[in-house]
Amino acid sequence: MLTTESETTLDLTWVRSQFPSLAQTIDGNPAVFFDGPGGTQVPLRVIEAIAGYLQSHNANTNGAYHTSRNTDRLIAGARAAMADFFNCDADEVVFGPNMTTLTFAMSRAIGRELKAGDEILLTHLDHDANISPWQALEERGIVIRFANINEDDCTLDMEDLARKISARTKLIAVGYASNAVGTTNDVKEIVGLAHRNGVLAYIDAVHYAPHGPIDVRTLDCDFLVCSTYKFYGPHMGVLYGKREHLNRLQPYKVRANTNAIPNCWEWGTLNHECIAGIAACVEYLADLGRTANPVASNRRTALLSAYDVIQQHERALAKAMLNGLLSIPGLKLYGISDPARLDQRCPTFAVRIAGHTPLELATKLGDRGFFTWDGNYYALNLTERLDVEKDGGFLRIGLAHYNTPEEVTRFISALREITW
Ligand SMILES: Cc1ncc(COP(=O)(O)O)c(C=O)c1O
Repeated sequence: MLTTESETTLDLTWVRSQFPSLAQTIDGNPAVFFDGPGGTQVPLRVIEAIAGYLQSHNANTNGAYHTSRNTDRLIAGARAAMADFFNCDADEVVFGPNMTTLTFAMSRAIGRELKAGDEILLTHLDHDANISPWQALEERGIVIRFANINEDDCTLDMEDLARKISARTKLIAVGYASNAVGTTNDVKEIVGLAHRNGVLAYIDAVHYAPHGPIDVRTLDCDFLVCSTYKFYGPHMGVLYGKREHLNRLQPYKVRANTNAIPNCWEWGTLNHECIAGIAACVEYLADLGRTANPVASNRRTALLSAYDVIQQHERALAKAMLNGLLSIPGLKLYGISDPARLDQRCPTFAVRIAGHTPLELATKLGDRGFFTWDGNYYALNLTERLDVEKDGGFLRIGLAHYNTPEEVTRFISALREITW
């Protein structure tokens, strides 16, 4: 049985004890990792799994000897772990170097099925990794269209999105959540809209994955892609593809590679040590779920329990961060600011402060041990659409479940001092 949010809370002491890097100091100040959207920290078990693989199992796949067989078993185990993470079958899980590379691979394969004049619908809210791979198909005569945003709260303009679906639309590519302003899109609604119009749905879940549970069966999306380094794992990408699409589409690959899914989508030798780290990272999340719900009957249920407590904790942090940010003179927040709408956003905040560039703020914060980002973080369409690209983009403060209320309080004091 699943616990509800009101019954359990995140065990923050246990969580922080899992991440050795959180103990670092910068010139005597505790390091505060508000850079999760660019890549989260990793638990010790992920580090040990990577080192342990290299120490004891390092081999290529499909060999008739011990370490190679162990490598095959380890990859199968990691695939099963990611299948629980996505709620799909293991043969629908494809490993790759990162989300961008996987998306270029899928866009080229999908492009083989398209004709000049066919349309692909993208959004201004998306990371460029879910834009440029589709725009590359313009050289084949594919027409790219963009759904607009509501500028006041940086949500998708769903009416505009629906209006821009035509009889020629073949695919909608959309983010689950914005890596710049934190908006969580109504992906289920978008997939439904796509399918009612006979259109494929490709979901970039990179920014959403550390913050909320993914269920590709309930979403019914055709493709969904993540980067494991954004949810406590090593630098790799993982794609879910519906079996029928993975079987039908023709990958660009070498002849010697199998034609069987999912391996026909995995080219060359994979990063086996990182795949060992991925299995450990899913186990970390499942263990977090078990601390909250000791009776979780299987890994999927434990993962859902983990996200229950992650969301509960992150929403409390987000509320405190929003209150603090909005109290700073001259600060403009881009995105949802209403504390009653925290279920529609991730705890990722994009701000600008009058009289200070984002780079200047990030540098001064960094000197005090607060790790934030400045710029566009490749959400280039959005910074251009909001006309902040020429002025250095935004300062981005990205929270993760290992952050604490005290860190938020200290951050707001530091920002106030810097901008005084
Ligand atoms: C929302 C989003 N999509 C895609 C990417 C690209 O991911 P990768 O670095 O794995 O290619 C990022 C990375 O920042 C991201 O935040």
